[in-house]
Amino acid sequence: MFTTRLANVDDAAVLTTLASMAPEGLISAPDDWEHRLGEIHDSGNTTVVAEVCGQVVAFLWADLAMHIDFELDLNWLCLNALFVDPASRDQGIGKALITNTVNWAQKLGIPVIHGSCLVESADWWRARGFTVAEPGAPWKTHVSVNGQRLQIAAAGDTCAMWLHLVPPVEVDIQK
Ligand SMILES: CC(C)(COP(=O)(O)OP(=O)(O)OC[C@H]1O[C@@H](n2cnc3c(N)ncnc32)[C@H](O)[C@@H]1OP(=O)(O)O)[C@@H](O)C(=O)NCCC(=O)NCCS
Repeated sequence: MFTTRLANVDDAAVLTTLASMAPEGLISAPDDWEHRLGEIHDSGNTTVVAEVCGQVVAFLWADLAMHIDFELDLNWLCLNALFVDPASRDQGIGKALITNTVNWAQKLGIPVIHGSCLVESADWWRARGFTVAEPGAPWKTHVSVNGQRLQIAAAGDTCAMWLHLVPPVEVDIQK
């Protein structure tokens, strides 16, 4: 039996430990949690954790990366990393974390959720409704910036993935 909740600054240490167990390439700066959680994360903390008997065993770290990284006025939710402690897998924890996040995003009117995933997890994401590109291929979005198509590259040999919560509409942002 597990429960899920929003992460907070007090989870930084356990998230660092969990993230250090994750496969290489899954998460950047695995010990940088204080800057991603709670009130000091002024761009919106959307990281959720799962607990078994009061112990955090999984996390889904997401944020509004287009806004943070590219200063684009796009409220797209970026799934930066999902990790379940190997001892707690196949109990529906990963599914619950992504379902919670998708439901929450839908309520807020977030139009699209995107990220990149490990090649070996691609089918898991497809089963959750995501489109997963070939390793290294970018997501060619429905948005252009000053006439240039916005493409989100997948790092290393990971795969770009995305899920539209509302049908995409072509748009050209002028900056
Ligand atoms: C992928 C991951 C998040 C799944 O978490 P989980 O809690 O074990 O997943 P769930 O219990 O919710 O889902 C299990 C289901 O997915 C299936 N599954 C598990 N791993 C899979 C994979 N790599 N590819 C396809 N299906 C997979 C199981 O067979 C099971 O199917 P069922 O519901 O039909 O029985 C977890 O294995 C993990 O943390 N892996 C390492 C990091 C990773 O790959 N993260 C994903 C982001 S790239």
